[in-house]
Amino acid sequence: MNKNKQDTSWESSSAWYDKLVSVEGHYYHREIIIPGVLDLLKQYPDPDGFLLDLACGQGVLSRHLPKEMKYIGVDASPSLIQSAQKNASDNHQFFVHDFTDVLPIPKMLCSHACCILALQNMSSIAPILQTAWEHLKKNAPLILVLNHPSFRIPRQSSWGVDLEKKLQYRRMDCYMTPLKIPIQTHPSLKTKSETTWSFHYPLSTYSTLLKESGFTIDIIQEWCSNKKSQGKMATMENRSRKEFPLFMTLVARKI
Ligand SMILES: C[S@@+](CC[C@H](N)C(=O)[O-])C[C@H]1O[C@@H](n2cnc3c(N)ncnc32)[C@H](O)[C@@H]1O
Repeated sequence: MNKNKQDTSWESSSAWYDKLVSVEGHYYHREIIIPGVLDLLKQYPDPDGFLLDLACGQGVLSRHLPKEMKYIGVDASPSLIQSAQKNASDNHQFFVHDFTDVLPIPKMLCSHACCILALQNMSSIAPILQTAWEHLKKNAPLILVLNHPSFRIPRQSSWGVDLEKKLQYRRMDCYMTPLKIPIQTHPSLKTKSETTWSFHYPLSTYSTLLKESGFTIDIIQEWCSNKKSQGKMATMENRSRKEFPLFMTLVARKI
């Protein structure tokens, strides 16, 4: 990796993340994200299915794909890639690589690319979009699952309760300004905790960067939590959970 670039890999938090995700995925992988991504993949059928998983972590998506689909997973964390390799099928390959640099392999002509909950961990987005463009077939989809940039900005968004209106609202303290936000893996350990980085951009930045990188946005989906509250705040909480999506998924096609 270029020495001046920031290491945003989750290597220092890899043991914690690997345990959290485990074989099947964490709660939102299992309930919302993986089923949502599989539905989207079906909307772009290709007889030679070959998926490039950008920032694949410990490879959770690979373990949910149709058996016949070829797969390459790439991530900057060597320990997460090592874990991914333990459960890998024969037609699955994994590589360690930091997407701030161009992926140094010949063009792959993939039928699909995905980046799940990872674009917001990159210090710059253009290089990973360029890599996706290089290795996708023409018209092939790139599926980007994001923590919803309009409603979930770490440290800058929170829930509040309006007792008069009897509703729970979402408070956003900023939105348009790009942000770089440290996130402690174990907040109770304060400064002794490992840190990962999150980068916030408004929705328009994603649209602009996708266009500049040779993609056109085909679908935007917004996915809400399916959890249910109990107790006296349940009605308010269940309503607001359905109003404010957790994830935004963009499907962009290579043009
Ligand atoms: C929240 S995890 C998501 C991993 C996986 N997609 C999943 O859903 O479990 C974010 C991932 O982005 C990877 N990452 C962060 N910056 C990266 C970079 N510049 N190049 C490659 N991977 C990176 C981290 O190592 C981590 O595995």
